[in-house]
Amino acid sequence: MNQPALQRLGTDADALRAAATHLRDGHLVAFPTETVYGLGADAGNDHAVAGIFAAKGRPSFNPLIVHLAERDAVQALVRWSDAAEALSDAFWPGPLTLVLPLMPGAPVSRLVTAGLDSLAVRMPAHPVARALLAEFGGPVAAPSANRSGQISPTTAQHVEQGLGDRIAALVDAGRCDVGLESTILGLTGQPTLLRPGGITAAQIETVLGRPLAQRRDTEAITAPGQLLSHYAPTAPVRLNATQWRQGEARLGFGAVKADLNLSERGDLTEAAANLFDYLHRLDATGAKAIAVSPIPHRGLGIAINDRLSRAAAPRG
Ligand code: TXA
Ligand code: MG
Repeated sequence: MNQPALQRLGTDADALRAAATHLRDGHLVAFPTETVYGLGADAGNDHAVAGIFAAKGRPSFNPLIVHLAERDAVQALVRWSDAAEALSDAFWPGPLTLVLPLMPGAPVSRLVTAGLDSLAVRMPAHPVARALLAEFGGPVAAPSANRSGQISPTTAQHVEQGLGDRIAALVDAGRCDVGLESTILGLTGQPTLLRPGGITAAQIETVLGRPLAQRRDTEAITAPGQLLSHYAPTAPVRLNATQWRQGEARLGFGAVKADLNLSERGDLTEAAANLFDYLHRLDATGAKAIAVSPIPHRGLGIAINDRLSRAAAPRG
């Protein structure tokens, strides 16, 4: 669907009313969450949801996450469970997405689930996201607001560079705090980690009182976050660099000299928040390659390494 020319919006009540009106009109609205900026559309409107896939250039077999402000509203769309209850008590609102059995007849476009009988649901913590969802009053489908396969957006400028000519409105609330997408947990069978993210597997295991199953690569669901090449800058990415090579843009971690440092004091939370922005910035220098220091593989480092390994993967 054609979108009207981009309206840049702030975060006051009038702005969020305007953004909600765009959603009701079937337009695309980019908005901040605590993880990354989302590209939102009315999840009940087939045309609007189709517009997300067109704007991103996203393969339509990749299902979308539905965002809601209240748990009651989530429970009307999916079959709830004890595990969902415990995890939502612990982590919602926040960067955890749950994949649950879709309630038959739930008012969600089949394009959102890509025809699956499960639905990914999330209650974001960002106050602007929550206010917009409350103002709209229904489920909002929202992938990250970047072109498919490219670096995820953690500022409104990133969104505008990638999608500015394809969306009706952009709600600008500055930088996203977490900087990495939500953790995705499958709860249609054994609790299964589908994508590492802002909440660690260890945090989830503590709440559930048992270890998570790992996704088997043979399983049918294809998430873009599970595609090998994803989150990719234009320049090739070299990982675990302990020495820099001529002409490379240098992305450091810890006590190393680099062009940009994810966290000089070696803090993984700070590194996660900086990751996508620094990849955007180093890519914009036109460097022939981006080299990245080793990142410790623990806590949020697991999600950071997941994104980096996909950014570095051979391009399809
Ligand atoms: O933090 C986030 O989750 C951000 C913000 C905007 O909320 N959204 C986000 O959406 O990262 P996206 O579309 O970039 O990633 C959603 C992931 C994809 O890997 C998709 O395949 C997976 O969720 N997914 C969605 N529905 C699913 C389902 N029913 N079963 C399995 N995976 C699903
Ligand atoms: Mg994405």
